Amino acid sequence: MSRTSSKVDWHPATWQSRNATQQPLYPDPSAVEATLGKLSRLPPIVTSWEVENLKTLVGAAQRGEVFVLQGGDCAENFEECTSENIVQKLKILLQMSLVMWHGLKKPIVRVGRMGGQYAKPRSADTETRDGITLPSYRGDLVNRNAFTAEDRVPDPELMLRGYERAALTLNFVRALVDGGFADLHHPENWDLDWVQHSPLAREYHEIVRSISDSLDFMESISGRPMHHSRRVDFFSSHEGLHLPYEQAQTRFLAHRQRWYNLSTHWPWMGMRTANIDGAHIEYFRGIANPVSVKVGTGMDDEWLQALVHILNPQNEPGRLTLIHRFGAKHIEEHLPRVIRAVRAVGANVLWICDPMHGNTESTADGVKTRRFDNVLSELEASFRIHEAHGSHLGGVHLELTGDNVTECTGGARGLQDSDLTRAYKSQVDPRLNYEQAMEVAMRIAGHRQRGSSSGA
Ligand code: PEP
Ligand code: CO
Repeated sequence: MSRTSSKVDWHPATWQSRNATQQPLYPDPSAVEATLGKLSRLPPIVTSWEVENLKTLVGAAQRGEVFVLQGGDCAENFEECTSENIVQKLKILLQMSLVMWHGLKKPIVRVGRMGGQYAKPRSADTETRDGITLPSYRGDLVNRNAFTAEDRVPDPELMLRGYERAALTLNFVRALVDGGFADLHHPENWDLDWVQHSPLAREYHEIVRSISDSLDFMESISGRPMHHSRRVDFFSSHEGLHLPYEQAQTRFLAHRQRWYNLSTHWPWMGMRTANIDGAHIEYFRGIANPVSVKVGTGMDDEWLQALVHILNPQNEPGRLTLIHRFGAKHIEEHLPRVIRAVRAVGANVLWICDPMHGNTESTADGVKTRRFDNVLSELEASFRIHEAHGSHLGGVHLELTGDNVTECTGGARGLQDSDLTRAYKSQVDPRLNYEQAMEVAMRIAGHRQRGSSSGA
C-alpha cells in the first residue's frame, strides 16, 4: 500500500494503477497518447534550480522568516492570455507584496496561480440545461465552456495549447521581472486605476513613500544600490489535477537524481483528489517539487496524518504546505484540531490560509459570490488561532484579479448583490477585485506577529 511503499517503486506513471478522479474521458485514446508524446518532448516550462530555490523559501516560510502570497484566477482561460491581463495580475501581486513586506517586516514570496491554472475539478461530471445534458466544463486544458455538444467533448490538442500559453505567460512574467518592471525603486510602474480614486489610495501612497525613503536612506549609508530590492522572485503554481498532462512534463534530472514536475514550480492538490490510495497522492509523492494540499472540514485527523507521512516521509524542509480552507463559520472548530494533528506526528509544514473556497455562496438570484467580510474574518481567525496554538500562519492563498470586476461583495466600496452583474467575468469562482485584494493585503500587513515561532 502507498503508505509503506518507497520512492524506489515510483515512476511518473505508477499513478495509473490507482483510481484517478476528476479526469476527462477522451473519446480517442490514441490521439491522447500522440499529444502526450509531443508534450513530453517539449522543453520544460520551469527549471529545477527555480524549483529548489522556491523549496528553500518555503522552508524559510515554515520558520516564519518570509511570508507567502499566492494568488490569481480560479481558472485561467486561453482567451485571457493577453499582455494586459498578465501585467495587471503581476501589478496587483507586486503592490500587495509591497504593502505586506512593509507591514510584516519580512520578505514576501510571490506565487501566481498563473501559467498553467487551466484544469478545474467539478462536483458533477455532467451539466444539464433545458433538458440537455453534456459533459461539465473542466477548464480550457480539457474542453470548451460554451454549452454545445461539440465544445464539451474533451480535446487532447488543448493540452498543447495550455502548455504553450503557460510558457508564453511565464516568459512574459520573467522578462518583466528581470527587465526592471519589478524594481522596488519604481513602484509607479505598477500603478493600477484604483490608486487614483480609491478610499485606500492615501494609505498605499504613504507606504510607497516610506519604502522609497528607507531604500534611499539605506543606499546612501551603504554607498551602493541594494541589489535585492531591484529584482524580485516570482513563482508559478497550479492545481496538479490533470495527471496525464502533469506526467508528460515530469522529468528525471540526472544531476539531482530526482524526478521533477517542470510544468510549474509549486503544484497543489485539492481535497477532492487527495484520497490516500488515489492516483493524485501516488503521483505527488514521487516528485521533488514543493507541494501543497488543500485541507477542508471533511479531512479528519487520520487522513491528514497519513497524507503528511506519504507526501513527506523524511520531513524535508519546504516540501509540504497545508492550505486550509474551512470557511469563516468552521475555522474555529477545525483549525486547532488540524494544528494538533500535524504536531502529534512531528511534521514540519507550512500553513497557508485560503479564505476563499470555504466562503463561496449564492445570492438570491443564484449568482456565485463571496462576502468580503467572511474572507477577512477567516483570515483574521487564522492568524489568531495559529498564534494561540504556538504555530504560525506563513502565507495566504487568494483568488484575485488586477481588474475592477464585481464578483465578491463588500470591501471599501460596499459592493452589493445588485452590483454583481455589472462586471462579473469569472467562469468559475468569484475573485477579489484589485481594490478588495489590496484591502486584504493591508489587513495582513497589520498582523505583525511576535517574530517567528517553530513551525508546527
Ligand atoms: C481552487 O483552488 O480553485 C479550488 C477548486 O479549491 P478547492 O479544491 O480548495 O475547493
Ligand atoms: Co476556485
